[in-house]
Amino acid sequence: PTPGWTTQADVVVVGSGIAGLTAALRIEAADPALKVLVVTKDVLSAGSTQWAQGGIAAALGPGDTPEQHEHDTLVAGAGACDLDAVRALVTEGPDAVRELIALGTVFDSHDGHLSLTREGGHHRDRIAHAGGDATGAEIQRALIAAVHRTDDIEVIEHALAVDLLLAADGGVAGITLHVMGEGQRDGVGAVHCRAVVLASGGLGQVFSQTTNPRVSTGDGMAVALRAGATLRDLEFVQFHPTVMYLGDGARGQQPLISEAVRGEGAFLVDFDGNRFMQGVHELADLAPRDVVAKAIHRRMEETQKPHMWLDARHLGAEFWEHRFPTILATCRQHGIDPAVDLIPVAPAQHYASGGVRTDIHGRADVPGLYATGEVACSGVHGANRLASNSLLEGLVFARRIAAVLPDELRPWADVADAREPSGLVPGESRTVIQEVMTSKVGVLRTAEGLADAVTALGAIGADRDASPQLEAWEATNLLTVSTALALAAQAREETRGSHWREDHPDRDDVAWAGNLDTRLVGNAE
Ligand code: SIN
Repeated sequence: PTPGWTTQADVVVVGSGIAGLTAALRIEAADPALKVLVVTKDVLSAGSTQWAQGGIAAALGPGDTPEQHEHDTLVAGAGACDLDAVRALVTEGPDAVRELIALGTVFDSHDGHLSLTREGGHHRDRIAHAGGDATGAEIQRALIAAVHRTDDIEVIEHALAVDLLLAADGGVAGITLHVMGEGQRDGVGAVHCRAVVLASGGLGQVFSQTTNPRVSTGDGMAVALRAGATLRDLEFVQFHPTVMYLGDGARGQQPLISEAVRGEGAFLVDFDGNRFMQGVHELADLAPRDVVAKAIHRRMEETQKPHMWLDARHLGAEFWEHRFPTILATCRQHGIDPAVDLIPVAPAQHYASGGVRTDIHGRADVPGLYATGEVACSGVHGANRLASNSLLEGLVFARRIAAVLPDELRPWADVADAREPSGLVPGESRTVIQEVMTSKVGVLRTAEGLADAVTALGAIGADRDASPQLEAWEATNLLTVSTALALAAQAREETRGSHWREDHPDRDDVAWAGNLDTRLVGNAE
C-alpha cells in the first residue's frame, strides 16, 4: 500500500511487552541522542506479558546457581538449544531481574528475601513472582511507568507493523505501519529508520484454543519472513498442560492455571481420582510441561474424556486468596471454588519456542533487523521452553540488543524495495486457519494430517482480494506463519520436546538434522 504519511526514527521497536519496552528503555539509556519509537498493535499493555502468571526464572535463591538453571533449561530443550544463548540467559538472568526490581517492579518477598517457587522441569525454587500470580501484570506496569518517566521514547498505539522497507543492500531502511488512529497518523504510513527491533510476541492465535491474547497473530514472524529473514524451530510449539477447560465450543484465549499451582502442591487426577503423573516421570506433576501435557492427552484419549482434573483443594481457601488471587477470581467467574472443587484442565497452545532466528545479540540475518522475546528464536528454548524462562529471555536479550545496537547502527538509507504479501486473505479466514491448525498441526501430528493441513492452507491462500484492514492483515499473517509451521512440522520426522509425531514416536538423535530453518523464496507468499 502507498503510505499516506511518513515520519522518521533511528530505531523502531515493534511491540510493548517485557522485550520491547526493555529494549526501548535500554537503547534510549545507552544513547539518549537516538530517537526511539515504540509501535504496538493495541494499547501498551495489551500483549502477552501482562498475562504471565507463574513468574520469571533466575538463579537467585540460596544454593542455586546459573549452572543448575542451565542444566534444567537444556534438559527441557531436548537437545535443540544453543548452549551459548542458554549460558547468556542463565548467567545474566539474576542481574536482569535485580534491574527490574530497581526499575520499580515489586516482587513477592518474605523477611526481605524474594519468595521463589518451583515449576515444571526446575530442580530448585527459582521462580520470582509478583502479586501472587500476577507477575506479568506487575512487570508490565513497572515498564510502562518507566517509559512514561522518560520523554524521549515516542509511542504509537493501535499501529500494526505491516512490512519492512529495505535498502538496496537488503538491510533495513524503514517500516510501514497501519495505524488505527486519528488525524495525521491514520491509515498506512512509513517510518524511515536505521534499525527495527521486533518484539511483537507469538503466534498463539493460529490455534483455536490458546492462552495467548487476541493480538498474538504472528505478525513479527510474518514481517520478518517477507523481508527475507530466516525463522527457526517453528515446529516447536508448546502446549500448556493445565488450561481451564471451558467446554468443547470454547474458542480464542483460554484461562491459564499456572504451573505454580502444581509447584505449591496441586496434582492431576483422572475422573476416577487416580494420580496419573506418578510413575510417568521422577518429578511427577512437576515434570517438564511436554511430559505433563502428553500424559494428560493420553489419559484423555484412554478414558474418552474431554479434560482431566487439577486437585488443589488441600491448599485451602486462605492460601488461594493470597497466593493465587488472579486464578481464584477466574475460577469463581466460572463457578468453581478451587478450595472445594476440582478444576477441569486440558492442554492448549501456550508458547512458540521458535521464531525469527537471531544470534546471541538478537541480530536477525537481515542487516539492521533484531528480534527478542517470543517472536525470536535465540536458541534458549530448543524443542521445549522451560517454565518461566520466557519473560527472562525477553528481558536478557533486549538488554543484549541494547548493548550492541547503538554502536552498529546503519547509516540512513533510501528505500529500494517494499516487501508486502501478494494480496490479503479475508479476516474471516482466521477461524478456518485455526480449525485446520488445531485439528492437523496441534498436540499430536502425523504425516497425513500435516499434508492435509498444507493443502488446506494453500486453498485458503487462493483467495487474496481482501481490502487492507487490520483483520485481513492479521489473517494473512496467520496464514503465512501457519504454513511455515506446518511445513516445518512435516519436515521433522521425529518426536522431540513439544513436537509429537504419532508416526515417528521416538526422538531420533542419529538422524537429527539440526534445527530447521525457514525462509520465503522471493517476495511472495
Ligand atoms: C505458568 O504460570 O504456568 C506459565 C509459566 C510459563 O509459561 O513459563
